[in-house]
Amino acid sequence: MSFNRSLFLTALAFFVSSQGVQFGQRVKKCQISDAAIFEASGLATSKTFANVAYTLNDRAGKNEIFAVDVNTCQTLAVYTVNSATNWDWEDLAYGPCLDDCQNGTVCSDVSAPRRYCLYIADIGDRGGNVPVNNIYVIREPATVQNSSVDLAGVLKFNWTAPDAETLLISPDARLFVVSKVTGGKATVAQVPLTAWNPTSRVDLDLSQSGTLKISTPSRDPLGGALSPDGKFLLIVAEYNIYFYSIVNGDVIKTLNDQVPTEVNTYVRTPSTQSIAWAQDQKSFFILPEGADPSLYAYPIDTASSGIVVG
Ligand SMILES: *[C@@H]1O[C@H](CO)[C@@H](O)[C@H](O)[C@H]1NC(C)=O
Ligand SMILES: *[C@@H]1O[C@H](CO)[C@@H](O)[C@H](O)[C@H]1NC(C)=O
Ligand SMILES: *[C@@H]1O[C@H](CO)[C@@H](O)[C@H](O)[C@H]1NC(C)=O
Repeated sequence: MSFNRSLFLTALAFFVSSQGVQFGQRVKKCQISDAAIFEASGLATSKTFANVAYTLNDRAGKNEIFAVDVNTCQTLAVYTVNSATNWDWEDLAYGPCLDDCQNGTVCSDVSAPRRYCLYIADIGDRGGNVPVNNIYVIREPATVQNSSVDLAGVLKFNWTAPDAETLLISPDARLFVVSKVTGGKATVAQVPLTAWNPTSRVDLDLSQSGTLKISTPSRDPLGGALSPDGKFLLIVAEYNIYFYSIVNGDVIKTLNDQVPTEVNTYVRTPSTQSIAWAQDQKSFFILPEGADPSLYAYPIDTASSGIVVG
């Protein structure tokens, strides 16, 4: 085989495998026994605290975030979010703080130290009502202890989608919401920085939106998570989990153009809305809704995927 031909085949193999990253069999990490976590609707892992993930309940819940140990499922802390109402909290994203990104210095991938924020997406329809479409922003608490936390800001937006359960954040703190529709061909739109405003509500620019290329038998999607480096995206639907490789950092174009692969080792757990990457990007976690949920991890099968992660 000529050098050029082998180089070509190597490049092709890399391309094909990186499009279809393989995941291994699920691993049950532990089972939550805290009765206060009963409608988990979002999950995010901490960069600051090892083995800590944050979760929240949707409309039946209070204005609380839970810090959970991903190995034991013990609740480590409950944070009460001051001046926020849980109308229908449907997702939770973790990333740089938007205000830090506005001056362009402390938010870039390479600069350290930096602060992280939790973005609480009150975007659901609360069972057929009109969504409030507020995203509450808190700084990641400095300690893993029960406390009350103040808002760092609120993003208020308006769009025509009647329901949504997915909020995504990129490493440079661009925020995206994905609607929830029968059949899964949902709309993804960016929430602009101008939405960070306590008094006015901005309309999302739907001329720049995308449409998911998935087809499902249910109302989807139920959640999603961009990897910490922004290169991979997981979307969870009622029956499947979909994997995307984000092209050139363009989330909307990727969702609009790409037919995702399915995580073929996924064992369906009904009503799973909570999905999060581990910070090392070697696995992702899911946490189903309902009482006493088990936390599951799906490791990337690096041998068969042939990719370097993390
Ligand atoms: C950027 O903004 C953040 C948040 O307001 C502030 O803490 C930080 O000091 C600013 N950095 C510079 C270099 O101005
Ligand atoms: C933290 O708050 C939870 C819920 O209110 C409570 O059950 C728990 O005992 C508290 N933990 C500590 C250490 O105070
Ligand atoms: C949101 O947009 C709809 C139409 O797209 C409009 O009827 C409604 O008044 C808007 N609501 C707010 C709070 O701006």
